[in-house]
Amino acid sequence: MRVLVIGGGNMGSTYAEAMSKSKLLRKRNIMILDSAEDKVKSLTKLSHFDAFLKPEDCVPEAHIIFIAVKPYHSEELFKKIKPLVSKGQIVISIMAGVSIERIQSALGISKVVRAMPNLPAQIGKGMTSFTASPEVSKVELLTVENLIDTTGRSIYVDSEVFLDASTGIREVVRHMSFIS
Ligand SMILES: NC(=O)c1ccc[n+]([C@@H]2O[C@H](COP(=O)([O-])OP(=O)(O)OC[C@H]3O[C@@H](n4cnc5c(N)ncnc54)[C@H](OP(=O)(O)O)[C@@H]3O)[C@@H](O)[C@H]2O)c1
Repeated sequence: MRVLVIGGGNMGSTYAEAMSKSKLLRKRNIMILDSAEDKVKSLTKLSHFDAFLKPEDCVPEAHIIFIAVKPYHSEELFKKIKPLVSKGQIVISIMAGVSIERIQSALGISKVVRAMPNLPAQIGKGMTSFTASPEVSKVELLTVENLIDTTGRSIYVDSEVFLDASTGIREVVRHMSFIS
């Protein structure tokens, strides 16, 4: 299984690093794509994963595409990668406010997961809520959950409506786990 992280910023590099440290994937099965040449160069130096500047060199190779760009870059990204994605691929998005329906229609795919991590994900102590379109199978969802959990713990919610609402609950759970 090959995973492509799109966006080598704070969250994207956090997930790529966390996945590379986990035993879920071989390092060469983690790819990262960024639009800035200098960032790709510095990510390449880490040698934990393959870094790319051109979507055509990595998007078609991925089984799972993890989108970690800012929401205002989403439409531009969708236009670039739409011709490169295929129906079997699973897209995981951590972009705030970009709905599953929007991602499905912009990319012409059906298997979409939306996840909402919190800041402690950057130190492996995150609490992430996530939900998925019905086209994502139970087995696929388990794989997705394992990837998300490389940055901490997670809660599955039935609907996107609960992604933001769950933020408060996540903080309580996180606090309780520090106490116990
Ligand atoms: N930070 C959090 O705690 C948190 C929590 C929950 C969700 N999120 C979500 O996580 C996402 C990423 O946040 P972040 O703080 O990691 O942002 P960030 O540090 O700005 O990283 C985004 C990266 O994506 C790159 N990028 C932009 N357009 C691209 C494209 N078309 N192809 C490839 N790479 C592209 C950016 O390059 P440039 O810098 O050159 O534009 C930047 O390196 C956001 O959607 C946010 O809503 C963040």
